[in-house]
Amino acid sequence: MLILGIETSCDETAVALVEDGCLLGQKLATQVDTHALFGGVVPEIASREHLRVLPRLYKELLRETGVAAENLDGVAVARGPGLLGSLLVGVSFAKGLSLAFDTNLIGVNHLWAHLLAPGLEGGLRFPALGLLVSGGHTHIYLISSPTEFELLGRTLDDAAGEAFDKTAKMLNFPYPGGRFIDDLAQEAEPDTELFPRPYIDNPTLDFSFSGLKTAVANHVAAHPELVFETMAGSEAVEKLPAERRKALAKVCASFNWSVADTLRIKVERALKRVDHVESLIVAGGVAANTGVRAAMAGVAEANGLRLTLPGLSLCTDNGAMIAYAGWQLAKAGFRHGLDLEAIPRGRIVPLDWERVAPAPR
Ligand code: KG4
Ligand code: ZN
Repeated sequence: MLILGIETSCDETAVALVEDGCLLGQKLATQVDTHALFGGVVPEIASREHLRVLPRLYKELLRETGVAAENLDGVAVARGPGLLGSLLVGVSFAKGLSLAFDTNLIGVNHLWAHLLAPGLEGGLRFPALGLLVSGGHTHIYLISSPTEFELLGRTLDDAAGEAFDKTAKMLNFPYPGGRFIDDLAQEAEPDTELFPRPYIDNPTLDFSFSGLKTAVANHVAAHPELVFETMAGSEAVEKLPAERRKALAKVCASFNWSVADTLRIKVERALKRVDHVESLIVAGGVAANTGVRAAMAGVAEANGLRLTLPGLSLCTDNGAMIAYAGWQLAKAGFRHGLDLEAIPRGRIVPLDWERVAPAPR
């Protein structure tokens, strides 16, 4: 079964082809440099960029893989959650292809796709506990199968990635700044008293990172020497005097520890609440974070679980994860009609498939 995947939910335009669960090829164009100038994604610009770039990526992908569009068994598209205007570009393109080539249309929940992505690199084991930590979401799911997700906990305000990005912005790193904090955090031991682990003194599996953001803001206000005068990339870090670099690294390591340990606490709590699970799947852009990866490795080991972490290129938004999730859905007999809706951030993605007979095994 040959599935094309299309991703346009935020600031990455991406397409990929998956055949029977294996990646045939993918193309990706990131807008990160464009939005970095504005300190965050500008929705209007993002939509226009998707519109400009998507047809070219699609054509290149088919040419490079030698696949004829007539042979597609389905077109899978990220239908939300995301930026509405951006999603509409991908969804409309997918509908056009589905009509033109009389092939199945499969709307994919972008968040599920992140968590299924490591399936491209090896077998996923279910039931699984899934932690999705991205720029827009911090969700804990019980995943019974590739098409059955139960949301157990979510962030009430900022997502983990947002906390990284806002902290980075306070220090004057470009957007998205998570990786700058991660890199500097490697150079110091965390001060575990410096910042709180937010929203842990309650029985819930939900997150709230806004308190941590405020604590960082207060610390930075009291130590203005930590902030770069102009927007700083890796080169500016290299030029920092040793003492200043050490102090900044300490802040980054301490902040990173607070986030990673908060995630650890809630994931361990979730594991106590669910019946037996086989594996822990961690996905989304923040799953690239060294501290988060280490914390989750510790949880998996302590609980005798297989840890499934996508490789770094599969952590951030990509087309391969959409094609792979679409393949899982198509295989299980799910598809959508041409009335498929794009779902903006903040709205629950509905389970509004049409069922057809599952593909024979
Ligand atoms: O999953 P993703 O590509 O986008 C969404 O769908 O939201 O995740 C992007 C997020 C950004 O907030 C970025 O700063 C963060 O992932 N990120 C990191 C790292 N690499 C990317 N955060 C912390 N440490 C990293 N190494
Ligand atoms: Zn994403």
